[in-house]
Amino acid sequence: MAESAVIRSDNFVSEAAELILQRAREALAERGEFRLALSGGNTPRPVYAEFGRIARDLAWEKVRFTFGDERCVPPNDEQSNYRMARESLFVPFAVPDASILRMRGEIDPPLAAQEYEDQLDLLATQRGEMIYRHDLMLLGIGDDGHTASLFPGTLALNEQMRRVVSNFVPKLQSWRLTMTLPLLNQSRQVLFLVGSGKNPELLERVLAGDEAFPAARVSPENGHLTWLIAEDA
Ligand code: 6PG
Repeated sequence: MAESAVIRSDNFVSEAAELILQRAREALAERGEFRLALSGGNTPRPVYAEFGRIARDLAWEKVRFTFGDERCVPPNDEQSNYRMARESLFVPFAVPDASILRMRGEIDPPLAAQEYEDQLDLLATQRGEMIYRHDLMLLGIGDDGHTASLFPGTLALNEQMRRVVSNFVPKLQSWRLTMTLPLLNQSRQVLFLVGSGKNPELLERVLAGDEAFPAARVSPENGHLTWLIAEDA
């Protein structure tokens, strides 16, 4: 069972960036590498910019950026989570391409998922791990309780073996690429970034562990779970 903490913050962006930087320093000290999975959507954009600003002296070549999920669009599409990270962090703070593992949303979804899973599996094997373990997995939560692209009622939510899958989301009538619960729950730490304006009843039910909501099913097997919630959320 994961150790968990709920932090309500009236300085959300700054506190989120500080938490990421603190975890980076811990991971680099422990293993000489910081494996960070980025979340998509809108909330993280200012957090990534602030993280880049305060992490200027971080050795980007020792950071490996992955993506918890991606829309099935080209990397320059305004819907692309990669584009959002590129604009807010990678370009402004000169993160080398070698530190970024992009999900190829522009190709056939099952192929893109298999390709990404193979890449993570290879990295894990190189470290003698059975499954790739993120040092920090950033996640958001949608108003339906989805996280990454694990939407209620979709097939990916029940995946118990695969680490990365393609997932058709009927409510969006679109395909997504997403890490699965088996991979998410191998993280050493998960940090949910919950910006302002989120439904308080939803948050209350998710924090109470209501597994009708996918976000409530994130529980790192040997790790920490932290919820950072903007005070006016
Ligand atoms: C995505 C995200 C998704 C996001 C939530 C919350 O690709 O959209 O990975 O899971 O975290 O939808 O989005 P906001 O933080 O923008 O509300």
